[in-house]
Amino acid sequence: MNRRRRVYEGKAKILYEGPEPGTLVQHFKDDATAFNNKKHDQIEGKGVINNRISEYVFKRLSEMNIPTHFIRCLNMREQLIREVEIIPIEVVVRNVAAGSLCKRLGLEEGAQLSRSILEFYYKSDELADPLVTEEHITAFGWSNPIELDEIMQSALRINDFLSGLFVGQGIRLIDFKLEFGKVWENDQLRIILADEISPDNCRLWDAETNNKMDKDRFRCDLGGVLEAYQEVARRLGVLVEVRPPHGTVPILVSSNANNSYD
Ligand code: TMP
Ligand code: ASP
Repeated sequence: MNRRRRVYEGKAKILYEGPEPGTLVQHFKDDATAFNNKKHDQIEGKGVINNRISEYVFKRLSEMNIPTHFIRCLNMREQLIREVEIIPIEVVVRNVAAGSLCKRLGLEEGAQLSRSILEFYYKSDELADPLVTEEHITAFGWSNPIELDEIMQSALRINDFLSGLFVGQGIRLIDFKLEFGKVWENDQLRIILADEISPDNCRLWDAETNNKMDKDRFRCDLGGVLEAYQEVARRLGVLVEVRPPHGTVPILVSSNANNSYD
């Protein structure tokens, strides 16, 4: 398996060359990092859960005619994706004040925002992903105004759809981060959603208790990281509990009829 050519290794995922031109294999690792890799640990099973959650979310988004890089799930930790040219911008959508927004503007965590806010961060580990404006993005050529308009519209549609999807499962979508990429289709450049959507890059709070069900449990040493991710998977219907003879263990279920796990 590891004889495949590694195209890129990030903090939580590895990309390998795919079986056909224009495809890659996205492998979800168990590594958890925060504060630009200053805090680092392994959370056994996190990669498996994120692969599942992200598969589920990307499939739902495709059904809403939001184009994504997801092709199909390959196994417990890997999915086949389209190769894209990543736009070096992290798009953050916020519905409720939390994280760096609170720090930067002195807001109280949990304050409802009067409307959803979009922010852009330049993807650069050396610079610790600085906050940038549309002006920087277009002036430095990281993306052009037409692409950026499409990205912003898409991010807001994704926010509307995902907020509803999570609320239906008793989860508040506080904020999240998206990445987009470019692909050529019949001589036309298209912007498609890339990366992943999982508790690693969303803030998800329980609707009744406001308990955190995302990577803030790791960032803030709250404990119960895997359990929180499992609970998100369980509510989305991609994790079920079965009762074997000696107790209860969670197993992952596929949303495809044709399950190809190895
Ligand atoms: P922030 O409040 O720390 O700026 O994070 C906003 C959202 O973006 C939150 O859901 C976590 C996510 N995020 C990432 O996915 N990767 C990152 O490197 C950072 C800083 C945040
Ligand atoms: N993923 C980022 C890192 O490792 C930051 C974060 O998610 O908090 O550094």
